[in-house]
Amino acid sequence: MKNRRKRGVGDVVVSWRRFFRFVALFVSSFLVFSALFIFLGKFRPSIKAVHGGSVPPVMVAPVHEAVKFPDQTLIFIKYQSSSRLLTKDYLFCVFAHTNDSSKVYKELPFAVEISDPGRQIVRCSAVPRHHTVSLAVTRWTVDNRFLVGATYQWDRLVYDAVIDHDNTTVAFVKGLNLRPGKVADVSRYECVYGWDLAKPKFLLRSQVISAAQEIVRCKTPLTVLKGPRVAQSSAVKVSVRIKGSGMLPSVAHPINLAVRVKDLTYGERKQFETCVCTMTRNAANVLREWVMYQAGIGVSRWFIYDNNSDDDIVSEVENLKNSGYNVSRHFWPWIKTQEAGFANCAIRAKRDCDWVAFIDVDEFFYIPSGQTLTQVIKKYTTPSSSSSKIGEIRTSCHSFGPSGLKDPPRRGVMASYTCRMSQPERHKSIVRPETLNTTLINVVHHFQLKEGFTFVDVEKDAMIINHYKYQVWDIFKEKFKRRVATYVADWQDKENVGSKDRTPGLGTRPVEPSDWAERFCEVRDNGLKDWVLENFVDRKTQRLVWEGERNIMVGEVVAQMGLC
Ligand SMILES: *[C@@H]1O[C@H](CO)[C@@H](O)[C@H](O)[C@H]1NC(C)=O
Ligand SMILES: *[C@@H]1O[C@H](CO)[C@@H](O)[C@H](O)[C@H]1NC(C)=O
Ligand SMILES: *[C@@H]1O[C@H](CO)[C@@H](O)[C@H](O)[C@H]1NC(C)=O
Ligand SMILES: *[C@@H]1O[C@H](CO)[C@@H](O)[C@H](O)[C@H]1NC(C)=O
Ligand SMILES: *[C@@H]1O[C@H](CO)[C@@H](O)[C@H](O)[C@H]1NC(C)=O
Repeated sequence: MKNRRKRGVGDVVVSWRRFFRFVALFVSSFLVFSALFIFLGKFRPSIKAVHGGSVPPVMVAPVHEAVKFPDQTLIFIKYQSSSRLLTKDYLFCVFAHTNDSSKVYKELPFAVEISDPGRQIVRCSAVPRHHTVSLAVTRWTVDNRFLVGATYQWDRLVYDAVIDHDNTTVAFVKGLNLRPGKVADVSRYECVYGWDLAKPKFLLRSQVISAAQEIVRCKTPLTVLKGPRVAQSSAVKVSVRIKGSGMLPSVAHPINLAVRVKDLTYGERKQFETCVCTMTRNAANVLREWVMYQAGIGVSRWFIYDNNSDDDIVSEVENLKNSGYNVSRHFWPWIKTQEAGFANCAIRAKRDCDWVAFIDVDEFFYIPSGQTLTQVIKKYTTPSSSSSKIGEIRTSCHSFGPSGLKDPPRRGVMASYTCRMSQPERHKSIVRPETLNTTLINVVHHFQLKEGFTFVDVEKDAMIINHYKYQVWDIFKEKFKRRVATYVADWQDKENVGSKDRTPGLGTRPVEPSDWAERFCEVRDNGLKDWVLENFVDRKTQRLVWEGERNIMVGEVVAQMGLC
């Protein structure tokens, strides 16, 4: 009893002491924070600070450049690896009138993307005439914003660059206007490297090895290759000089995707047997079916080049990753650059993939024998005694029509669209990335190969691609709208009115033809539908594995298909 009382008294004393300590701590913290607040407030990177040249280390360095597109502006910001990434909720795009700085308005960005290491890209709307664009951090006042340094036009620009496995730099360039599929004269160009391309004294020049389409390959100067800064902050930029007409603007930091010291040899086994590259926009709704189906036939790695999506693709990719699918998304905002994007993806996939298929998200391999894609590839590429080495496999496509449907099918495309055109269209390629020609020339889904390599056509009854090209009107019209007045069936094709690529019988306005649902229907084809219903139905729910919310692990799908 006594003890307890004593202890009680002692407790009170201690508590008072603690209380005073606590108050003291609180007061001093308050003072420190106020001081910091005032200090930082004074030195936050306002216009004055930027002009004064004494920018203190803040969350992000000032915006350094922007690229103007017809429908958006990309603003590139640098960040230190130690600082947090900025998200959409922290930023405003600020537009100010050039003549009247009191006329300012701000809006939320469409998205904030992570580009190469050390850089983020903020997507703002297009800059109106007589306006400039800058960025503001939400909690700051509009006066204190990041100013944009240089602003470039998207159609005359070195927009991306990577260091390939042979240590050459591959630069992706708009504005050279080279003829499709043709090799250009390399002596007309020169690559230029520098930490600040505006300082001619500190530029390194290097020889061009090949130039074709939008791709210039050059020797990488040793300083750049060995420089510690390449890998980490990618601070060095590369540009292309057209002899006699000057250097193109550049936002391209050559990034080293290879991270291995030797070039790859033909036939070397890699981490993944079969991978897929695709370029797409707003594919969140269809990604699940597309990825899960391909996982079932043996694809194990997906590279998604995202052309300015404004749907839920980021979270859909996350969901798939969480379910065990190795999917990565790469922001690719560049206009009319499908060929360049494919070349970029081929280099990206080279280290880890034996074979890379280039298909769209509305295309699905159909293998009637029930073999995996990998088995089909092996069958066609196992060297027979005489034939030259195979670097590419071509598969033709069947174009499916709306098949009588009026509403978007709940079970996905494969189980729903069953009527198609009889004649196959074009083909899509699966390539061995190390056999691609140095030029990386590719035209409508097939690549030029190195000398000594050749392609093989897959027979139609061994494998075909089901292309769900003309879907129900609500879905099809989205494709239609994007091509506006000059409708073409494939985005990479020429926009001439008489072209066979135009959807037959459609005008130039997105109005549903009364018989749309019945069109493009010449042959009933239940092949892939039956195969999918046999092999991709969840026994418990009786639904297709990609239907509904439930996430299913890759292993389950493969097990259900009896491939293990
Ligand atoms: C901006 O001011 C300049 C001269 O001060 C004038 O020539 C120009 O027309 C003005 N532009 C606009 C859009 O008001
Ligand atoms: C590429 O450069 C690195 C670093 O300089 C070097 O170690 C490597 O051997 C080079 N690889 C090739 C294929 O030249
Ligand atoms: C996905 O593939 C890349 C190689 O392309 C590999 O580095 C990475 O570890 C893989 N991720 C998972 C989760 O397996
Ligand atoms: C991306 O979409 C835009 C329309 O938003 C289009 O103009 C552009 O050509 C597309 N890019 C590619 C690579 O197809
Ligand atoms: C690339 O293709 C061209 C023909 O367009 C050919 O002359 C050249 O030898 C090929 N490159 C290689 C490395 O085989």
